[in-house]
Amino acid sequence: MPHTEPTEDPAEILRKAQWEFVKGVVGLEFLPLPDRLEIAFAGRSNVGKSSLINALTSRKALARASNTPGRTQELNFFTTGNGDLYLVDMPGYGYAEAPKAKVEKWTQLIRDYLRGRVPLKRVFVLIDSRHGIKATDIETLDLLDECAVPYQAVLTKTDKLKPGELDKVFAATAKGLSRRPAAHPVLLATSAETGTGMDELRAAIAELMRLG
Ligand code: GTP
Ligand code: MG
Repeated sequence: MPHTEPTEDPAEILRKAQWEFVKGVVGLEFLPLPDRLEIAFAGRSNVGKSSLINALTSRKALARASNTPGRTQELNFFTTGNGDLYLVDMPGYGYAEAPKAKVEKWTQLIRDYLRGRVPLKRVFVLIDSRHGIKATDIETLDLLDECAVPYQAVLTKTDKLKPGELDKVFAATAKGLSRRPAAHPVLLATSAETGTGMDELRAAIAELMRLG
């Protein structure tokens, strides 16, 4: 009988990858070569982008998370040891308390990156489950729809909701996405704190890697 190796779950491979920080990018001219699959995490300041990347990669401090909104100020690129994927932790949008010039610079960088990055296969747009879709989220979703950049919405911090609240925000958010042309039909509900939804998120990324 031929010997067959058990096939490892691709999501498990993702979880076990040797993740490393590549660079922080402050302008499009500093972007790394577009030589591999790219997946970005966008969302309002403090929504939990950096925390989600840490939970996803099972690393405590790969991305720097903080209680202070505006923590991530560059496009931070992370890759796996074998170099087949970039995860991109983005600065948050909608943070009004930082100096205006700074906010404008981040906003421009985010927009330029999202609009024109060829290997960007999917943007996970994070929505705080306590707040649902806000005006600044709508601006981002509109941009992604206009530029036909595929995106999938992810509710974050679901551990902070009272029982029963998740169903409501889930339904309202799904409704807000239903007619959007570039939105993935599946809305994910996650908690970086408890790990809820992390396997689904890994599976979604593993599927993108499988498709190449
Ligand atoms: P910026 O880089 O400023 O845009 O923020 P961010 O979106 O990267 O958020 P970050 O991951 O830094 O998290 C912001 C705060 O929310 C931190 O205090 C995190 O500990 C907290 N947080 C993130 N995810 C969760 C979660 O799933 N549950 C709970 N309870 N807190 C979370
Ligand atoms: Mg961050």
